[in-house]
Amino acid sequence: MILLLCMLSLLIVARSHMQLNYPPAFNSSNNPHTSGAPDPFLFYPYNCCGRTTVFPCGGYLNLLGKPEGAPVTSWVVGSKQKFTLTGLGNHYGGSCQVGFSVDKGKTFQVATSFEGNCPHRNGGLDPSGQTFEFDVPADMPTGQAVFAWTWMNREQEFFMNCAAVTIAKKDSKSSSSTGPASNAAPSYDMDGCTCTCASAFALDAANQYTTGGCDCDCSKAPSAPKPGAIHKRAVLIPAINKRITPAYLMSDCACTCAQAAKKNTNGHYSMSDCTCTCNESPTAAGSKHKRFGSIVRSHFRSLVTKHNLEHDLERDVDVVHVEERSTVAYKDRPSMFFADINNGCESPLTTAELKYPKPGPDVVPGDGVYPLALPSPASECGV
Ligand SMILES: *[C@@H]1O[C@H](CO)[C@@H](O)[C@H](O)[C@H]1NC(C)=O
Repeated sequence: MILLLCMLSLLIVARSHMQLNYPPAFNSSNNPHTSGAPDPFLFYPYNCCGRTTVFPCGGYLNLLGKPEGAPVTSWVVGSKQKFTLTGLGNHYGGSCQVGFSVDKGKTFQVATSFEGNCPHRNGGLDPSGQTFEFDVPADMPTGQAVFAWTWMNREQEFFMNCAAVTIAKKDSKSSSSTGPASNAAPSYDMDGCTCTCASAFALDAANQYTTGGCDCDCSKAPSAPKPGAIHKRAVLIPAINKRITPAYLMSDCACTCAQAAKKNTNGHYSMSDCTCTCNESPTAAGSKHKRFGSIVRSHFRSLVTKHNLEHDLERDVDVVHVEERSTVAYKDRPSMFFADINNGCESPLTTAELKYPKPGPDVVPGDGVYPLALPSPASECGV
């Protein structure tokens, strides 16, 4: 009987939880840098079910600077990005925030507040129905940052997942404004692919060369990376004109991308917002790797002129649009809001979705199905 009750409560518990799917959270099963057993409790509310959850980020900030905590993507300041959720139950809504810490988790600044209908109450459990757009603050510091997603539902439960990301300068072009479509972030062997990336490859904590924000074009369908394969290098292809970001011939590198490879009308396959890793430093074409030169350049030139020029123009338009709207300096953005974690502040129960006391400049309204209510008591919640 006790066993049956335990199983029943597990079932109930397992039907009412969500977690950050993209970008992949620290120690999640879809994070390419997770090396051991992934955390099976990322979709649990904090301090649920007899467990104590370390605040913030489930205690995973200690992975920063370690291989398991390497950035999973690169976002350009001022760009539009998407995050997705997945899990076993969306609780028919609630309110979410996303934001960043640029001081290794001491403080978190709000990027966007979603007041109501987050997760999407009728969006199901698949990331395709739980995709949310937000702006990376245009004036936030570049370099490594912690991206955080928080959720407070109408059961006074608090969720927080975090991911390591790289924030890139604006003049290094980002890849995607397109978001992830599939559940797991797919990984690929990159033979026969050419990628343009938001920034140059840099040596990471795992002694591998990594970069993010890569848009890739592959002459054949990319396959899953071979287990134990040695990833050698990416060869830098010089920019053909100033508008083109550095491009790499991805010889024996591995990339994890925001979405599955798409077949184009020209028979090529494309992926966007990929984070790529190679064991050796990428080499500029023209030095050691001259032999790739002409083939690569002609291949790349046709690819670049077809795709990227138009694409870059579109991106420039986006950036200008974001700049016009940005009014609050990054350092003046409010702190992300935390409640329902025994900190004296509680979100509304059952009848309303949370209205943030200080939502920040970027607020996405819900669908109005539930009224919004401030947390209480006011004195403990910064109202
Ligand atoms: C990830 O989570 C699992 C399961 O909770 C845990 O055993 C493991 O130590 C965690 N990994 C890291 C790097 O913290």
